[in-house]
Amino acid sequence: MTPTSASTAVRTSPEVLVVDAAHILRRTRELVAPALARAIGGLHPWVGEMAGYALGRCEVGGAPAAHSAGKGVRQALAVLGAEAAGAPAEAGVPAAVAVELVHTFSLLHDDIMDGDAMRRGRPAVWAAYGTGPAVLAGDALFALAVETLAATPATPRLAGAVRQLTAALSDLVRGQADDLLFAHRPWTGPEAVSAAEYATMAEHKTGALLGCAPALGAQLAGAPHRTVAALDRAGRHLGVAFQIADDVLGIWGDPAVTGKPVHSDLRQGKKTFPVLAALDASGGSALAELLASRAALDDTTVRLAVALVEQAGGRGAALREARRHLAAADGLLAGAGLAPRAVEDLRTLLSSLAHRVI
Ligand code: IPE
Ligand code: IPE
Ligand code: MG
Ligand code: MG
Repeated sequence: MTPTSASTAVRTSPEVLVVDAAHILRRTRELVAPALARAIGGLHPWVGEMAGYALGRCEVGGAPAAHSAGKGVRQALAVLGAEAAGAPAEAGVPAAVAVELVHTFSLLHDDIMDGDAMRRGRPAVWAAYGTGPAVLAGDALFALAVETLAATPATPRLAGAVRQLTAALSDLVRGQADDLLFAHRPWTGPEAVSAAEYATMAEHKTGALLGCAPALGAQLAGAPHRTVAALDRAGRHLGVAFQIADDVLGIWGDPAVTGKPVHSDLRQGKKTFPVLAALDASGGSALAELLASRAALDDTTVRLAVALVEQAGGRGAALREARRHLAAADGLLAGAGLAPRAVEDLRTLLSSLAHRVI
């Protein structure tokens, strides 16, 4: 950790960090919500209903509702990226809408790919509306994201911003492809997924968009290229940490809190960080035997596998690796010549994710 981030960690307790982060997320959510609502308001009504359902704004059938719309981390990063470049928060709003739409699209399609029927505490869009309609709603959100960004009132950096978003989309697809392919690779032996392969996959599937978010906000605010690049790199490290934390929650999280299934990754053979780390540890042989001996894990063997991952130190190793990436992100923020107040908020958000339970 850099001296500055260490002092943030010492000065601030986890409880205070989480409260401060919630405040930042609320402020940015309130700023972005009207523009996000306007954007989805222009969709085909049926597709718009599915988008509204995914964002917690309505029930199936369209009756208004106020469910969880997700944490809103990406929209917050986009707004903070603009502020970090010295612009008012409003300059980051088109970027925030674009990245939140891309994120929602990726979740709709991801739940189909992963066969996960629960998202944000409710039936996933595919489970509520059917797979075909959910694919279509995802496509619509993808298109709307690019359209919204491209419609940003004239700025000399618009072409660069659109390129940045589409490059992140390509990386996201690359990461999803590896995530799906890795599930068919063996747990051990020469064909096993290495730590480096995991990191690249996580950087692509999750880090690309978390890096794009603040970089896009800064780009629209006219920040120098080195600032945009530093924010992108910091967000990518944050993304790897975020994915590792998500892997932990997928094994030890409470579905009533996370709003999504637990143990689904293990059952599907997903190569998550805690399991890979446990297999790599000296105490990982019992786990390796169990995973090699079973095509599918039932309720009993999945619980046994979870216990073995924990015993072999997989959870601790994952939390350490997530902290290492958060510290790397923090270090990149320190050297980027950013507005101090926004850096403070970015740091709060980053540090709070080390204590994430949702
Ligand atoms: C979930 O992202 C998918 C991952 C990249 C791990 P979030 O945890 O940000 O999901 P929401 O938006 O809060 O529901
Ligand atoms: C997250 O994938 C990345 C994308 C959605 C592109 P995961 O499959 O790991 O995330 P959750 O756990 O379903 O949210
Ligand atoms: Mg998933
Ligand atoms: Mg997935």
